[in-house]
Amino acid sequence: MKAFNDKINIDNKISVFPYINIYQSALPDPDKLLSVIKESENLSKLGPYIDPWERWYEFGEKARLQPHKETKQLTTLNSEHLGMLSAEEDKTFYDQENLFNEIDLAIDTVLKDYVNEWLTKELDESKFNSDWHGKKTIFPEHIKDWDIRSRSGNWVHSSYDILKHKSETHKQKKYAIDFHTDNKPSSDRMPGPKPIMTVTIYLNDDYEGGEVSFLNEVGSEIITYKPKAGDITVFPSYKPFFHAAMPVSKNNKYLIRYFCSYYYHGSEDYLSGVEKFGEDIWKKIEEHRIMAEDRSGMHMKNVVFPGEDQMETFKKWSEIFRLQSSTVAIPFFAEKVTYIDGRINE
Ligand SMILES: [Fe+2]
Repeated sequence: MKAFNDKINIDNKISVFPYINIYQSALPDPDKLLSVIKESENLSKLGPYIDPWERWYEFGEKARLQPHKETKQLTTLNSEHLGMLSAEEDKTFYDQENLFNEIDLAIDTVLKDYVNEWLTKELDESKFNSDWHGKKTIFPEHIKDWDIRSRSGNWVHSSYDILKHKSETHKQKKYAIDFHTDNKPSSDRMPGPKPIMTVTIYLNDDYEGGEVSFLNEVGSEIITYKPKAGDITVFPSYKPFFHAAMPVSKNNKYLIRYFCSYYYHGSEDYLSGVEKFGEDIWKKIEEHRIMAEDRSGMHMKNVVFPGEDQMETFKKWSEIFRLQSSTVAIPFFAEKVTYIDGRINE
């Protein structure tokens, strides 16, 4: 297999906040990759590496990028396979294989760099609220092996999701995707694969809007960044790394998302519940709690922009979560919005 190592560029890295890295122009040729993805949208049958496109909530569509079982047994170098496919199918196979390999390598490269940089770096505590449990929430202490892509141990090698954020959806809202963290805090204590780091690869920039925002809670600041084609971001999947995406217009926005996940066996609290009530009953109780927490909005941020009416924002938020007398959604009063190219809106 051809080595792509020299092609992924991690030299133009910026950290917009501790633990939030942007690898600018990391992909050498995002257009080429995007054209393979766009071709897959027209394929009548599933591709060797791209699953059929399906709905992605109300945001658009998504397709998994992963080798199928049969694909794993084949490569373009496998002579038995060559000749079995038509010229067109052969091209699709080759294109999708290259896409997968390049994305795989890009993710590998940025994650290794990210862990190298942040695992040992001393935490600047002044940047975080005192109720934050610190670095161990980003690099959990129960994880001893940080060879994240060894495909062994408890690291879960999940698929890459190609996401197509459709233009004109949620255009009446400030954010199409509201502020959230990728690891669901409500189900944190349950056993299962937990996202530790979120990698996002941006494939185009020929649309309007689509900015990505992060919260700096101590600084009451919203950090906003407009991705460029070929950029890759890496940030922790846990609190307090809230992020959101603005609506897209004129064209669709294409990105690839990967949750680098670790298998967790469940917290002591969770496991003692299992012991006390038995797994079936305890699971049901926990599911109800999770549903209630998620519906309450308590794990999201109710962001109030500078100059915005607090009450209006509260009402909108209440509608979303169908809250009645009580709310647990914590408002975040932003004092400034910082664009990472240096423009500041006060
Ligand atoms: Fe997210």
